[in-house]
Amino acid sequence: MTPDEFRKAAYQHVDWIADYFEHVRDFRVLPEVTPGDVAASLPSWAPESPEPIAEIFSDFENKVFPALTLWNHPRFFAWFSVSSSPPGILAEILAAAVNVNAMLWKSSPAATELEQVTLSWLRQWLELDQRFFGIIYDTASVGVLQAIGAAREWKDPECRTKGMKPGLTVYLSEHTHSSSEKAAITLGFGQQNVRKIGVDADFRMRPELLEAVIRQDIDVGRTPCCIVATVGTTSTTSIDPVEEIAAIAERHACWLHVDAAYGGPAAIVPEMRYILKGAERAHSLILNPHKWLYVPIDCSVLYTREPEILKRASSLSAEYLRTAQDDDVVNYNDYGVQLGRRFRALKLWYVMRYYGRDGIVALLRQSLGLARNLAARIRDSRDFALCAPAPLSLVCFRYKGSDEENRRLMNRVNESGHAFLSHTVLHGQFVIRWAIGNMQTRQSDIDSTWDLICRLASEAAAPEDATKEPALRQ
Ligand SMILES: Cc1ncc(COP(=O)(O)O)c(C=O)c1O
Repeated sequence: MTPDEFRKAAYQHVDWIADYFEHVRDFRVLPEVTPGDVAASLPSWAPESPEPIAEIFSDFENKVFPALTLWNHPRFFAWFSVSSSPPGILAEILAAAVNVNAMLWKSSPAATELEQVTLSWLRQWLELDQRFFGIIYDTASVGVLQAIGAAREWKDPECRTKGMKPGLTVYLSEHTHSSSEKAAITLGFGQQNVRKIGVDADFRMRPELLEAVIRQDIDVGRTPCCIVATVGTTSTTSIDPVEEIAAIAERHACWLHVDAAYGGPAAIVPEMRYILKGAERAHSLILNPHKWLYVPIDCSVLYTREPEILKRASSLSAEYLRTAQDDDVVNYNDYGVQLGRRFRALKLWYVMRYYGRDGIVALLRQSLGLARNLAARIRDSRDFALCAPAPLSLVCFRYKGSDEENRRLMNRVNESGHAFLSHTVLHGQFVIRWAIGNMQTRQSDIDSTWDLICRLASEAAAPEDATKEPALRQ
């Protein structure tokens, strides 16, 4: 491709992106497709000869795009609502263009140093202690794997050479994201050595139960290794009492990991800083700029007060990776299982600079405010009930009817294409989750979706047409 051909194609792609942002509300959030539709529309044989970009782009527009679930839609309210922002997109283009590998300082000095600088800025916004060392991973799932791996290294240093000793135990709550248990399975703890601590009426881990379970485990010769506390659980965004949990972790020499993957960015808002109270006592903490900090997927930040332990758990030096600067620099591949690393810091740096702290705070407050008003509306309504406190920007509610009526209601909203909601189960009941977080979501998006829900709720009481799609798989 010549530079001129590239320029022309790039302009066409950028025009498409700008038009997409301008008209995003005209599109369905969930596509009308059935499994296999997209694959069937594409050739099953790889191309033998070159194809023009215009043709590839046309297939993107006509075959791929219509079958995408639009995560960047202002009425995407499922799971956690996210935003890839214009500055983040521009940085992604540049990162792909320079295509550097941030594995060693030498493999791309600016990529390493920009990661250090950007993560120190973010640490300042979060008012975290400067002892916290930061690293960017792709996802929080990988970050927690690294954190629990570091906890294991700390409690069982011989693990690295001799394998893991029996009885090392990890403590979660019933509401901890599945990635922590998955990490414990992957690392070889075994599910039997993962304790799920009960929660209170507001879905927060109960410290007194945690203390009791740890004591019982010690009595029978187990070794408490790591506690995972969550700031913004996935089902309800409940906030575990981190300070009390930190005291327990310190008493029993456990690694404390704080999963603030979704909730963490809210702490940038001054009146929300309280959500990270106690987190400065954690050994590690995760937050995802790709969830609620307007950075395109993927970008997850891990901070740790124990970088040397993380490094001991993860590094393995090979001759071909040695450089003259090794003693003076951070080689980020030493702090994770990945050798090759994308230049993710660039998009975080772009976003932080473009919006500034004031802009980010305004955007976060916008989502927090929309959620607060929505929760009040539901609390005041005759036909719906709030099912959990809404401290952040997720509202959990149900129609005052059966589980089946609620499931049908959610499915009908989703089938309409107007909005996309997801669900959870609380106290054995089906609950609809309405997550707000996209930077383009306005009060009118909430109002039109609420009107649709109210209208469909009355119809939901009627038996579902047997030919309709069954509950969406989550
Ligand atoms: C609280 C929490 N932790 C961890 C994760 C996993 O995040 P990721 O998709 O970055 O692995 C999620 C995902 O929603 C989450 O809600």
